[in-house]
Amino acid sequence: MEDEDNVKQPSEIKPAQGKLGVLLPGFGAVATTFVAGVEAARRGLAKPIGSLTQMQTIRLGKRSDGRAPLIKDFVPLAGLEDLVFGAWDPIADDGYESAVKAGVLHKEQHLDPMKDFLSSVKPMPAAFDTKYVKKLEGPNVKKAANKRELAEALREDIRKFKADNDCDRLVMVWCGSTEIYVRPSAVHDSIEAFEKGMEENHPDIAPSQLYAYAAIMEGVPYANGAPNLSADFGALESVAKEKGVPIGGKDFKTGQTLMKTILAPGFKTRMLGLSGWFSTNILGNRDGEVLDDPESFKTKEVSKLGVLEHILQPEMYPELYGDMYHKVRINYYPPRGDNKEGWDNIDIFGWMGYPMQIKVDFLCRDSILAAPIVLDLALFLDLASRAGMGGIQEWLSFYFKSPQTTPGLYPEHDIFIQHIKLKNTLRGLMGEDMVTHAGEGE
Ligand SMILES: NC(=O)c1ccc[n+]([C@@H]2O[C@H](COP(=O)([O-])OP(=O)(O)OC[C@H]3O[C@@H](n4cnc5c(N)ncnc54)[C@H](O)[C@@H]3O)[C@@H](O)[C@H]2O)c1
Repeated sequence: MEDEDNVKQPSEIKPAQGKLGVLLPGFGAVATTFVAGVEAARRGLAKPIGSLTQMQTIRLGKRSDGRAPLIKDFVPLAGLEDLVFGAWDPIADDGYESAVKAGVLHKEQHLDPMKDFLSSVKPMPAAFDTKYVKKLEGPNVKKAANKRELAEALREDIRKFKADNDCDRLVMVWCGSTEIYVRPSAVHDSIEAFEKGMEENHPDIAPSQLYAYAAIMEGVPYANGAPNLSADFGALESVAKEKGVPIGGKDFKTGQTLMKTILAPGFKTRMLGLSGWFSTNILGNRDGEVLDDPESFKTKEVSKLGVLEHILQPEMYPELYGDMYHKVRINYYPPRGDNKEGWDNIDIFGWMGYPMQIKVDFLCRDSILAAPIVLDLALFLDLASRAGMGGIQEWLSFYFKSPQTTPGLYPEHDIFIQHIKLKNTLRGLMGEDMVTHAGEGE
């Protein structure tokens, strides 16, 4: 019998009542594939494959207990039928037009049957500046005297969307283009400096930061699906924590990096060495075009390169990983559209240093891998908000190429550790024991 005082209690979680508005800055390939997929699932036309919130079970107690409900039946999540969508984009295409242009989903089979629904989502004018995304021009933009006014206009949009759509709660997931590389500077240190910086149009304040600021100030959880600096700096992290607003980032973990974080932990677990990992991609969607700009690519490269270092820990295993060569290339190649091809040449070595090679040729569909991440982030951030968990949500690292962590901590990139952390966080929230896989029956 467990001691009465030791019986775990579920956290106080407000119920998921009413509508949840999902706000999407950037209404291109990923965002429209996400919206269309949710609607297809609601109509019973397709399954939400790749989504943990919709399809995965969670084991509770010992293996012999036979308790493994679906995650969505275990934690109180918003239902798909309760989701409503809003977006901003400098390109004025509605959801149907944008999805057709993106070319991810089959027009006749999947888009035409829900044309009415998709066309009804029209992007609001964006806070956009071509200086930060060089390859784009768009007429659907806000005009304001300075960045502070732009941020205030976004806050007004958020409030209006909530009222017009009768939403109980909102979340925001950045699905906009990758902006140029910006390092945190003094303007990002405190909220006072940031607000003054917006008034003075400081060049280190990119549009995605304005959305992040607007969301957090409105109490709306925020996740960043791109690699650029957005909510991952001192000023916004502190305000998010103080106001109890969950935030997470950055850069959806799909495609080649997903493969990397699946394979690399395997090599390390077997104590196999790695001398080189060369990754190259061809892709032809708008994201690929934006990444053709060296400044946007730099942002992406930084996000992709950290992964192996953190998983393999060369400082702890110098004989195995101290000398590895890691290179990532992305090439814009229009004929492929959203159907990317990623090659990996991996040089590993084993017993007595004998070399071996692995080649991976992943013909993936980026937005098909990213869409369920948008859904899970929206639902889990909303859960975190109702459970009173503010600030950086490290348990959502599973979804990101560059997980945002508490300052001073290194990020956890190993997808299997990330997965255990995610599920144990859910167990903890509901007052269940953590599964440690230790002990009999565990
Ligand atoms: N597809 C994936 O698997 C994947 C994986 C990781 C990260 N990402 C990132 O997700 C983002 C979206 O990818 P995508 O394939 O949908 O790209 P996309 O080019 O199809 O869509 C991005 C949209 O963002 C809009 N945009 C740019 N700046 C904006 C602003 N300031 N406000 C509002 N809208 C803005 C663009 O007009 C465009 O329509 C990119 O940054 C990409 O790097 C995608």
